[in-house]
Parts: sequence; C-alpha cells; structure tokens
Amino acid sequence: MLVTALPGQSLPAVIEPDNDLSILDVIKENRAEIRSLITRTGAAMFRGFEVGGVDGLHDVVRALSGAPLDYTERTSPRSSLSGNVFTSTDYPPTEEIFLHNECSYQAQWPMKVFFYCLQPAETQGATPFADVREVYRHIDPAVAEEFIRRKWMYVRNFSEMGGSWQYFYDTDDRSQVERYCGSQGIDVEWVGTDGLRTRAVREPVHPHPVTGEPVWFNHATFFHISSLPQIYQEEMLEMYGEENLPTNSYYGDGARIPDDVMKHLQKAYRAALTRFDWQADDLVVIDNMLTAHGREPFTGGRRIAIAMAEASDAPVEP
Ligand SMILES: [Fe+2]
Repeated sequence: MLVTALPGQSLPAVIEPDNDLSILDVIKENRAEIRSLITRTGAAMFRGFEVGGVDGLHDVVRALSGAPLDYTERTSPRSSLSGNVFTSTDYPPTEEIFLHNECSYQAQWPMKVFFYCLQPAETQGATPFADVREVYRHIDPAVAEEFIRRKWMYVRNFSEMGGSWQYFYDTDDRSQVERYCGSQGIDVEWVGTDGLRTRAVREPVHPHPVTGEPVWFNHATFFHISSLPQIYQEEMLEMYGEENLPTNSYYGDGARIPDDVMKHLQKAYRAALTRFDWQADDLVVIDNMLTAHGREPFTGGRRIAIAMAEASDAPVEP
C-alpha cells in the first residue's frame, strides 16, 4: 500500500493500492500499521480500491476493528442500510451539519467511525473533518478551563412533536428508560402526559486511551441552539421555547453558556476544518476522539454509509 496525503492537507491520510491486493488483504497485511496511522493522523482514507458496497464495508469494519456497534441514543434521523450500517443522516440536504465527535455526549462512544461513499453529491456534500487537538489549541485557555471546572450539561426533550422517547429508547416502558438512564448518568424527568426531559453532566476533556493526550471531546458546541442553521434557530425557539428544545447545552451547573463563548467555540472548530470531495468507493476511517466530522449542504443523490466500532469502554487495542 501507498500512504500519501491530499494536496495541502494533513487530514485524512490517504491509503492507495500499489499492487493488485484487495482492500481486505491490504488490511490483513498492514493492520497494526494502518491502526497506528489512524491514531497518529486522526483519519485515513482508502481510495482506489474496490470496496464492494455495503457488504464490503462490513468486511472492512470487521477486519480493522471487529463487529460494528449499534446506534444507541440516536440524535439525527438515519435509516439502517444493513445490520449496523446506516446512511450517514437523513437530515435535510440544504443545511449544513456542524462539526462534532460522534456520541461525545454519551457515557461510552465508538472509538472508530467509518464513512463509505456509495454515491457522491452533485455539488458540495463533503464530510468536513477537524482535528480536535487543533480545535483545542484554538480555544482560549480561560474558556477551556471554565468548562473543565464547571463541566457541561446537555438537556434533551422528547415529545410528540420533536420525537418521542418511545422511538428514541425503543421501548414503551418508563421503568426501562429510568434503568437505562440511571446506568448512564442521565437524570430523567417525566413532563406532562407523555413528555420526557433528560439531563446529563459530562466532562469536556477526556484522555485519549491510546496516546494519553487530553482531547476536547464533547457535544457542548454541537448541541447548543446557536450551532443550528440560522433559519432553524428562531423557528425552534418559537415552536418549543428554550427549556423544551429537543437538545441544548449549558455549563454543568445549568447556567447558560454566553453567546460570545459559543461563537468562540464555533470559530475554533471552523479554524481546524478541512474538506475534500468524495469519490465513489472512498472509505474513511476516523479516530472519533481525535477527529470531528460534519456535513456540507449538497445537491444530488449523495449516499454515504456509516458504521461505528470499538466501544470506548471495551479493552483498548492500540
Ligand atoms: Fe455524526
């Protein structure tokens, strides 16, 4: 295999074929090296291989990481393509999705996320990446220290209108929701006849389990109402009111995060953003703790499959 880079950018590293080996054989022969490349750079892209559709993606996940994980505590609408492979999101194509680390609001998260391009968009539609080590360097130390001291909290509201708790937790049984949330450090508040509000306080910075470096890994920015596309912000506030928003974030003590702090954090993510145009059969593996991802708006029939692997609470393999 040949390891290169995209012109002018360090993320993702690019792995290309230099003989007729299949992608699976390349992974089998170079597994440790590829894994260490991902942990070092944050993301690696296989380009120029025949992956073989969704089944091929399954095989790649298994060869590199083991069995793909299920998608629990879903935040954005997705459809299942096959087993634990999903479309990346069914969110409206006209809108940007802000940079985030998958499931960084949960008590556990996937260490690897796989993105596989079945069909590129006609225009835009990139999956932009940002090295959160770089994001962290762009954050004013006083802002970061305040989050480390106070932590951050997310609040979610489930309702008929914004998505029911029954769908989200895949049960009609309130006591089951309470048990699950209890085990995940999530506070539960039943609201009205059939509403649910959950709150969880999380750490903003976590040590990377392989490298030990402290990483800025949280959903405080992504979940905040001000990170939504402008056209949605007013609509959402009008429709729900602040305390009933489907998702929002606060400091860990429940206090509002000031607008200028949110703008500063959004700017820090954008300052680290890199993007490239997808080609059919591109397959990118990210270290989810090192690399945030987002989505550009797009036109055309873009199809990106996603799979997640390596639960953060499982034994660490370098
Ligand atoms: Fe995502």
